[in-house]
Amino acid sequence: MSKIKYDLEIKFGTSYGKEEEDAVLKVLRNNAPTSGDECIRFEKDFAEYNGTKYARVVTNGSSALFLSLIAIDLKPGDHVITTPITWMATASAPASLGAHVDFVDIELETYNIDSTQIEAAITEKTKAVIPVHLYGQACEMDTIMAIANKHKIHVIEDTAHATGGEYKGKKLGTFGTAGCFSFHEQKNISTLGEGGMIITDDEKIFEKISLYRSQCTRVHGVSTKYCKLDEGKFPIGKKFWWQDFDDFGYNFRMTDIQAAVGIEQLKKIDALNQKRMENAAYISDGLKDVPGLTLPIQRPYNKHAYHLYPVMIDAKEFGMNKEDFIYDMLHKFGIKIGFHYIPLHYSTAFKNRGFKKGQFPNAEKLGDQLVTLPINPRQTEEALAYLVESIKAVRS
Ligand SMILES: Cc1ncc(COP(=O)(O)O)c(C=O)c1O
Repeated sequence: MSKIKYDLEIKFGTSYGKEEEDAVLKVLRNNAPTSGDECIRFEKDFAEYNGTKYARVVTNGSSALFLSLIAIDLKPGDHVITTPITWMATASAPASLGAHVDFVDIELETYNIDSTQIEAAITEKTKAVIPVHLYGQACEMDTIMAIANKHKIHVIEDTAHATGGEYKGKKLGTFGTAGCFSFHEQKNISTLGEGGMIITDDEKIFEKISLYRSQCTRVHGVSTKYCKLDEGKFPIGKKFWWQDFDDFGYNFRMTDIQAAVGIEQLKKIDALNQKRMENAAYISDGLKDVPGLTLPIQRPYNKHAYHLYPVMIDAKEFGMNKEDFIYDMLHKFGIKIGFHYIPLHYSTAFKNRGFKKGQFPNAEKLGDQLVTLPINPRQTEEALAYLVESIKAVRS
């Protein structure tokens, strides 16, 4: 297989260099501990980069969402609003805590949740809305924050696709109660395949996230000569400490070796995103005259992180439907095309909860027509040219 095809087969993902290699070796030689100094440094750097007070590193984007919802005290029977066009993790976080998920349809310009439809979906049981900055482009945060403030509900931003993205000059993930990031291998930066982060300005939310991340462990200490050696108490010189558990928690800690890689990746995020934007501009220019394709737009006040490059295929005009396009691109040209996403209300999990086709027409149109093109920063101009020419040639 040629180099070009190889690059395009590995659809998305990470670009590691010598810096990450050195960071891994340094931590490895230090016995590769679990969550330690490197995690704390990564958190500090991530909070600084985004301009928030706090950041807590976790195992992945799914646990980031889950912990954020625990932190806002989401309980069985509460309702959470989100989009049907996202990865299952966005919906399974509230659902697995016993909450009801209320989907709101998407807008067809950006494919994000239609902020103008959110208010109608709010009831007295609604506790939070989870806007997903899909493919790296910001949701309409002014509208979403105004509605959330009016109804006193939390906004938990799913920023899995949008590390480094901005809305009106402000970093995504910093608008709501918490912002949840993923460093999975396909994301804009990665921490060895899996990883996540939560950012917040709220001290209480941060404390709760930190507690539940680590089995709700608290260590208490007293400084006295006369403390008795009761159960669970250990003397350290003249100071005694003991461990307690506030509640039943989880282990969602990241390892130091991953965090050390994260520190190096974060230094590169703006350059990596810039390359993604350039790749997007190249593809858009190459495909602009192809009939039947709707190419992505970028709202002028958004800084798009271009996690993915979405394209809608009108089967009649293009002469081929989405499924045939994906099949032929792979078999004729060796290019793997993605489909993000199949609307969540089609899934067995949500069908079993009463959802059915026909409820969210825009999401369903996307499900029928949308494909995603390889855009990761490793793509060479030669590979991108091959991609564009292959798309033009695929119908013949
Ligand atoms: C929109 C969205 N939210 C959340 C997640 C969950 O992230 P992770 O895979 O790190 O658990 C993903 C992962 O693909 C995602 O795409």
